[in-house]
Amino acid sequence: MRKLGKKILGLALAATMVMGAVTGCGKKNDKSDASGSGSGSSSGSGVQVGIILPTKDEPRWLQDQKQFETILGDAGFTNQVLFSQGSPATEKTNVETLISKGIKVLIICAQDGAAASAAVEEAKEAGVKVIAYDRLITGTDAVDYYVTFDSFAVGAAQGQYLIDNAPDGSGIPLYLYAGAATDNNAFIFFEGAWSVLQPKIADGTFVIANSSEAEKLKDKNDLDRDEIGKIIGQITTDWDFNVAKSKAEANLTKAGKDMKGNVLVLAPNDGTARSIADVFATDKDVTSYVITGQDSEKASVQYIIDGKQSMTVFKDTRTLAADSVAMAVSILEDKEPVTDTTYDNGKKEVKAKQTSIVVVTSSNVKQALIDSGYYDASDFTGLE
Ligand code: BGC
Repeated sequence: MRKLGKKILGLALAATMVMGAVTGCGKKNDKSDASGSGSGSSSGSGVQVGIILPTKDEPRWLQDQKQFETILGDAGFTNQVLFSQGSPATEKTNVETLISKGIKVLIICAQDGAAASAAVEEAKEAGVKVIAYDRLITGTDAVDYYVTFDSFAVGAAQGQYLIDNAPDGSGIPLYLYAGAATDNNAFIFFEGAWSVLQPKIADGTFVIANSSEAEKLKDKNDLDRDEIGKIIGQITTDWDFNVAKSKAEANLTKAGKDMKGNVLVLAPNDGTARSIADVFATDKDVTSYVITGQDSEKASVQYIIDGKQSMTVFKDTRTLAADSVAMAVSILEDKEPVTDTTYDNGKKEVKAKQTSIVVVTSSNVKQALIDSGYYDASDFTGLE
């Protein structure tokens, strides 16, 4: 049985997403951030939906912010968006600020999935419905709904890409990196990647270069959370570009020549992929590298066009933002939000709406990201 965030059950509720106006609600779109540098602030009362995003320092969350800005003007409820700037303490203060403004619904992407439980419990006590956005909040029954991408599929796509694009032969060095241990998604991404990579490690096609814990578990396909936690303890980037860079440098300094040549790199997201790719690109004993990513950040799309990053995963933030706003509208209208699966957060089965993902490489970047209207061709150079 899958635990803590793995999809366990499809509910397949057939209902329509309502994005219409809520009767009697005023329209006010109030954007401000925790440091006060945002535009405007909601004076006193009257905020119906509060939205909290983790940080402005990672392009991923600026994509989400942009989508919220696009749809909130027409959402039909008063709202305020706050950023936690990487701090669970700021996040908690943000939750309290929004509660004091009278919110009925909180859409929150937690900085630390376990630490956020205290904040959302305060929200629950105040009668607020909580929607976890992208990252599941764990160990509490105060989460009502979850909107997410299929994170297991993200990791599996990364692993499969490495398999499909590996050099011929066996004993190919594989460098593993993961996200932050405080983020439930980091576990699911790794679990997805491991599910496809493990047989190739077990049969000697790939050799793990930088994790003794993963090496110890190479014959086991279905890892439990503690086992994944041990591996992540060695290969975490903390979702931080600088940590990723230092870790890659340390790994390559330690690696012998037999662990260089043509190598494979599991990088958990685009920001860390660019840091790690830059390190591998400058090692004279690394002949070639295949490296994964996710988020389709503009800088990584350019890296892909330039041949410096191999793939990314497109997670269409337009859908995620729209799903969470539609859920908020349903809650405000006293209707049951549309969900299609559940996630176990360690305390309850959280009803969830899940969105699929798309693998992006140099061969479909135009179709996936430009033709779909997500980015402009003029954002990139050398795009054919
Ligand atoms: C998100 C990724 C993101 C990472 C770092 C994860 O929870 O799902 O899209 O790259 O956090 O911010």
